[in-house]
Amino acid sequence: MSNLKILVLHGPNLNLLGQREPEIYGSLTLKDVDNLLMEKGKSMGVEVVCFQSNHEGAIVDFIHQALGIYQGIVINAGAYTHTSVAIRDALAGVNLPTVEVHLSNIYRREEFRHHSYIAPISIGQISGFGVDSYLLGLQALVNHITSIGT
Ligand code: DQA
Repeated sequence: MSNLKILVLHGPNLNLLGQREPEIYGSLTLKDVDNLLMEKGKSMGVEVVCFQSNHEGAIVDFIHQALGIYQGIVINAGAYTHTSVAIRDALAGVNLPTVEVHLSNIYRREEFRHHSYIAPISIGQISGFGVDSYLLGLQALVNHITSIGT
């Protein structure tokens, strides 16, 4: 065990995974996604804790509360990706290494999804691989953190 703790944040409507537009977001539920992330974390010796909220302010609060507890954040901010300066500022404010993930390829979809407020303050973004976006994001974040030794 490396003592690393990673926070995974899911934004609005992701609680509906499995029933929400499955042709875009797949058939796994949020619980399935969280279980896969926790399993992957375990295999890397990392503790993964997942939260979902439909409320912008609650996501800001989760980000603030991460300070001193988590060493990095994987975030799928859902639609707030494209609208929320508050979530971006919270991430910039705590200054924890962050990876942005999306189940769908946001660049193949409507133009309003092409802009992310979060991408410029993230280490990187993974988009379009379904649940693998989260798993790859987690792996990349842990690699990043351990290679910079924080
Ligand atoms: C999403 C893409 C967003 O544009 C959308 O609003 C979502 C999900 C994704 O994971 O593909 O809610 O973040």
